[in-house]
Amino acid sequence: MNATMAATRIIHSAEELVTCTAPGGKAGPRKGANQGEAGVIDNGAVAIVGDRIVAVGPTNEIIHSYRNEYTKLVDATGKTVTPGLVDAHTHLVWAGWREEEYRLKLQGATYLEIMEAGGGIMSTVDATRLADSSELKELTYIRLARMLAHGTTTVEIKSGYGLSVEDELKTLRTISDLNLELQKAGTGPRIAATFLGAHAVPREYAHDPEAYVTLVIEKMIPAVAAEGLAEWCDVFCDKGAFTAEQSRRILKAARESGMHTRIHANEFERVGAIEVAAEAGAVSADHLLVLSPEDIEQLRAAGTVAVLLPGTPFGLGIKGYAPARELIEAGVPDCNPGTCPSENLTLMISLACSQMRMTPSEAIVAATINSAYALERGHLLGSLEPGKLADIVIWDVPNHTHLAYHFGINLAERVFLGGKPVDRRRRADLIETWVKELASTPLHDDKGR
Ligand code: NIG
Ligand code: FE
Repeated sequence: MNATMAATRIIHSAEELVTCTAPGGKAGPRKGANQGEAGVIDNGAVAIVGDRIVAVGPTNEIIHSYRNEYTKLVDATGKTVTPGLVDAHTHLVWAGWREEEYRLKLQGATYLEIMEAGGGIMSTVDATRLADSSELKELTYIRLARMLAHGTTTVEIKSGYGLSVEDELKTLRTISDLNLELQKAGTGPRIAATFLGAHAVPREYAHDPEAYVTLVIEKMIPAVAAEGLAEWCDVFCDKGAFTAEQSRRILKAARESGMHTRIHANEFERVGAIEVAAEAGAVSADHLLVLSPEDIEQLRAAGTVAVLLPGTPFGLGIKGYAPARELIEAGVPDCNPGTCPSENLTLMISLACSQMRMTPSEAIVAATINSAYALERGHLLGSLEPGKLADIVIWDVPNHTHLAYHFGINLAERVFLGGKPVDRRRRADLIETWVKELASTPLHDDKGR
């Protein structure tokens, strides 16, 4: 027991330890051929001190150098270990559901037709405005707990179902309160907030969309910035939503208030969103279902991360997925979370592979380190390397290909947040029955707790 530095916990003997570190340890999102290098260590281990990773390597070396009599050992024999997944695009705070619209879509109605008829985002806005913040908090908490149970340890959340000063603030304060509570209790994913007041023109401004843009710029952005409620400002720049010119002004005002920017771009039509993203220095451009070669070149030149959301065309039942291969080959770093009614990010990894032809390694890198960069947290999380937060998942699969291949169910066996196992029993007291069922299944190895 010759420890150079004793670890508080060592996760060891992983069949595959998928580090998601860049070859040569270069910082920055992974692009091109590098995105396919997931940094797998066979029979790997990770040593943790407090909430941080201190070392990663072959099990015998890590045990030899970092174990002492107080180190808790977590046996991951036969399992795959990855960084906690990072979801860089969600709209998690909402009330009400839209299954009626889903039925209409299955009968052939398009997303834009439903939106033009006053449904879509506005249906959710109606229900969200009626909900008070404690109700919204509870609804969001349930979704976050599900995401965590599925291996997602960091979640970006957008506002955008309030669309009035008061209701946007209500949404963002709900996100902020939840974040504080969950970090204190250690029971929830880390949260990063985005202001998306420009998600749709609300009904009461339908006759004068410009007046709504003015409200976003003159009232909402200053109020959000004054309370420090969001790191980024996002705009839905598309047909039926906001024009490139309106988006440009909104993102400019946001930057002047100190927020960084991102953009919903090219989900349905090409209306100039990519140019706006490049001009605004947007951290990410999201969706990108309809892209020209010039758009791809512009994203690459601007260094904007492409956040691809395969759950959206899957949920909408539309054929065109984002051109992931072209983006990766052009060297645009790509992320791959989901913003459809699903809390399962590994399902999005499966869709990325089967529908967008990404390799399992590329999709896992997308959903960890590249998503962390899309949230400007690449220095802090998203890979298993010394100094980073010990947000780690043990998956009940023998290798990382299974995370894509074996789809549609929850493969996450144990989740560690900041070096601590998330206590399933405690979480189960707080949320719904299905998690209670999960908690009653025997734990694989209780020694590490
Ligand atoms: O990311 N495209 C715009 N926003 C969401 C969908 C919002 C909604 O339909 O409620 C998206 O797909
Ligand atoms: Fe979205």
